[in-house]
Amino acid sequence: MTVFRAIYASRPFGFDAGVLNNILLDARRANARDGITGALICRHDIYLQWLEGPEEKVRAALARIERDDRHVDLVLRVADTQPDRQFGDWAMLHDPAVSWIWPPEDVAKGAAAQAGPLELEAIFARLRDMVGRGGAV
Ligand SMILES: Cc1cc2nc3c(=O)[nH]c(=O)nc-3n(C[C@H](O)[C@H](O)[C@H](O)COP(=O)(O)O)c2cc1C
Repeated sequence: MTVFRAIYASRPFGFDAGVLNNILLDARRANARDGITGALICRHDIYLQWLEGPEEKVRAALARIERDDRHVDLVLRVADTQPDRQFGDWAMLHDPAVSWIWPPEDVAKGAAAQAGPLELEAIFARLRDMVGRGGAV
């Protein structure tokens, strides 16, 4: 069994706690239905999301997400097939206000849009490690 994986970056539009909670409610409800798991790193200047699951479901979720007006400038950075899930325990792991990804000035210059798969994987691997130590929800 393989799993399809997509990683994208986008820019929040109207970012606050209420908006974020609603996004997570929508994401977790739909992902539980669709067999999608993943993680969402969010800060006032960036969303960075990892989605994994059946290819058809992940592509359909991406199409809905791309149309969502709660963010703009979505750039798909990775879309490939993997042997295993990395976030199998989470309908959408949420990591608020991470300070260890790129500094805001680098994000503003397009760091996420230029990042390669290995750099993106390292970011999400670090998030998984943090969760293992009780760092995120
Ligand atoms: C940053 C962000 C992340 C999102 N993550 C997901 C997700 O993981 N899965 C999902 O189905 N929808 C996600 N959504 C919500 C979708 O855009 C959409 O609102 C939801 O899938 C319901 O779509 P529908 O109203 O067409 O049924 C996300 C939206 C944003 C802005």
